[in-house]
Amino acid sequence: MLMAELSEQIRAPKGLSGVSVTETKIAKSEVDGSLIYRGYTIEDLAENASFEETAYLVLYGELPNRTQLTRFNSELRSRMKVDSSVYEIIRDLPKDAHPIDVLRTAASSLGSTDVKRAPHEQELSVAAKMATLVANSYRIETGKNLIEPDSRLTFAENLLYMISGKKPEESDAWTFERELIFYMEHDLNASSFTVRVVASTLADIYSAVTAGLAALKGPLHGGANEGAMQMLLEVKNPDAAAGYVADALAGGKKIVGFGHRIYKQFDPRARLSKQYLKQLLAEKKMDDRLFRLCDALEREMWERKKIPANLDFYAAPVFFTLEIPIPLYTPIFAASRVFGWIAHYNEQVLDNKLIRPEATYVGPKDLKYRPVAER
Ligand code: ACO
Repeated sequence: MLMAELSEQIRAPKGLSGVSVTETKIAKSEVDGSLIYRGYTIEDLAENASFEETAYLVLYGELPNRTQLTRFNSELRSRMKVDSSVYEIIRDLPKDAHPIDVLRTAASSLGSTDVKRAPHEQELSVAAKMATLVANSYRIETGKNLIEPDSRLTFAENLLYMISGKKPEESDAWTFERELIFYMEHDLNASSFTVRVVASTLADIYSAVTAGLAALKGPLHGGANEGAMQMLLEVKNPDAAAGYVADALAGGKKIVGFGHRIYKQFDPRARLSKQYLKQLLAEKKMDDRLFRLCDALEREMWERKKIPANLDFYAAPVFFTLEIPIPLYTPIFAASRVFGWIAHYNEQVLDNKLIRPEATYVGPKDLKYRPVAER
């Protein structure tokens, strides 16, 4: 090969926007607002599937039959309990640490307690334990007693139960489960890409999940659901929405919960979540001001910028209405997305090539070292 060919680089756009860097059979989001998991539309899954069925689908590529589902349910439920040594590590962290930081540390520490298990065992273990860690690390931080998962409850019910200490109403658990389904997978989002980079080095699943959590934390990614709720509480009144958007845009600020790398018309998950928010408020006979506020902000952003609301914008008020503490919003996202991360980890490892792109060097060349006394 000639030197010229060797040094030729393909210049990718900033943020790899619009670049396909791998093939996947897991999920696909499209600019027109469609989203499929393994060939099934998100609308179909939201209407008909349970969290566990969807997790099985995302992990193994097809919907489970009854025997497979029963086995998967018991495999997950039997692995939800977390070893006391992990809780000891959480207890040593500062009490004001953010729950997502605590979760990242806890997930990483699972890597040293679970290390002797077979890879399939490790995956199920980290996925099942994530929900327990989300709830119980927050309980430790806020001085509450630990709650053990209840093996009679579904994944969504268990998570709500461990967070609140109360067995959830059926309709609350149903709505929460839909949000978990929406958060499970989203093709090559920043955290799943991060997971694939780690997987490509053939590091273990705990390292990949810990890296996924680190990427998820950022306000441009998973951190946006918490940020969106803080904004909704700040704006408060639907009548203040137009002024808030105008001021924020004039100040060059991004409005949390809006915009998406792929969706430019609408985010199908946000559209469904908006419907669920309305239903939930009605079922609870609550004032619909929160819904009207979201709707007003959404309309204003569309009118001014043609930027649609994303999932985080509507998942946040749904969680708020379910009385979930705001600092848990991003960790809850992680408790579901971990299933998508594992699917990406496995897909990467199955047909692996080290992910190691290049950078175009634009710094100085030909500099000569001078001893410190001469600088
Ligand atoms: N508020 C105001 N303007 C926005 C917003 C927003 N939320 N989002 C995008 N824009 C504008 C940008 O300023 C940019 O304008 P310009 O072309 O005049 O510079 C244009 O729309 C394109 O935006 P980019 O940031 O370049 O789009 P990108 O695809 O890189 O970013 C992102 C997508 C990061 C999600 C962005 O829309 C954003 O920062 N949103 C707020 C954070 C957020 O809600 N994140 C959650 C993502 S969804 C999820 O994790 C489930």
